[in-house]
Amino acid sequence: MIIQRQEDVTDAVLDAVKNTADPRLREILTALVKHLHAFARDVHLTEDEFEQAVQYVVRLGQKTTDTHNEAVLMSGSLGFSTLICLLNNGNKGQTETTANLLGPFWRMNSPRTESGASIVRPPTPGPALFVDCWIKDTNGKPIEGAEIDVWHSSPEGFYEQQDPNQAEMNLRGKFTTDARGHFSFRSVKPAGYSIPIDGPVGDLVRATGRHHYRPAHLHFLIFKDGFKTLISQVYVNDDARLDSDVQFGVTRALVGNYVRHDGAAPAPDVQGEWYSLDQTFVMEPGKSRLPKPPIQ
Ligand SMILES: [Fe+2]
Repeated sequence: MIIQRQEDVTDAVLDAVKNTADPRLREILTALVKHLHAFARDVHLTEDEFEQAVQYVVRLGQKTTDTHNEAVLMSGSLGFSTLICLLNNGNKGQTETTANLLGPFWRMNSPRTESGASIVRPPTPGPALFVDCWIKDTNGKPIEGAEIDVWHSSPEGFYEQQDPNQAEMNLRGKFTTDARGHFSFRSVKPAGYSIPIDGPVGDLVRATGRHHYRPAHLHFLIFKDGFKTLISQVYVNDDARLDSDVQFGVTRALVGNYVRHDGAAPAPDVQGEWYSLDQTFVMEPGKSRLPKPPIQ
């Protein structure tokens, strides 16, 4: 159609995509065009602002490398990643879920570790943390033989590959649940950390007057045939930034009960304060699959 007025543009584009063969792609493109055009009308986007927006998208791509994905960071910083997670887990967003964001630091081939053993590959000083995990199905039945990757930042807020002072695969382990759906491990209490702010996402965070930190957390990836692979994070409840995560990842179900202790610890070498965490994860029936590792 020949466009006469601004209102016609939307109809022209909708008409142009209506013969898209794939029905799902057609549905997505139709809704995208409607919402995108409505957005521009809503804020009456100027030509200058449009040029800035295009340049912003270009910078997202330019900042992305084999070891860093600025587009994923942007998606998290707008709450979009968490929205997608919550729409697709917990019975399609109807019920509470222990699913959460994968984040950029998962690696394949974490070292196999016996239940109860430590994932601290010294030297990594910090408060000792003893973690007990329980994996259940939606009926509360324990899941035996689930494989779990655990990874987290150091008490200084760095993942091993970011920090020359940490050993290879430090604070990472791969566990298997027993007949009770249980595994446990020893580690050190993680700290929160800054997201990278030297790119366009940093500009956005500064422009909105927010801080650029994630509250401390442990990461989990739980894999078992017959169940939807469960990607999770368990947040440290005494973190001052629990309710202002720059990536909007914290959900009520995943605020962990990290309990501080000062008395005798489960290991004789522990001096002073130490922490324990008891956490249950619920796996939904579905397809097991491993995500593509965000970094090599
Ligand atoms: Fe993380």
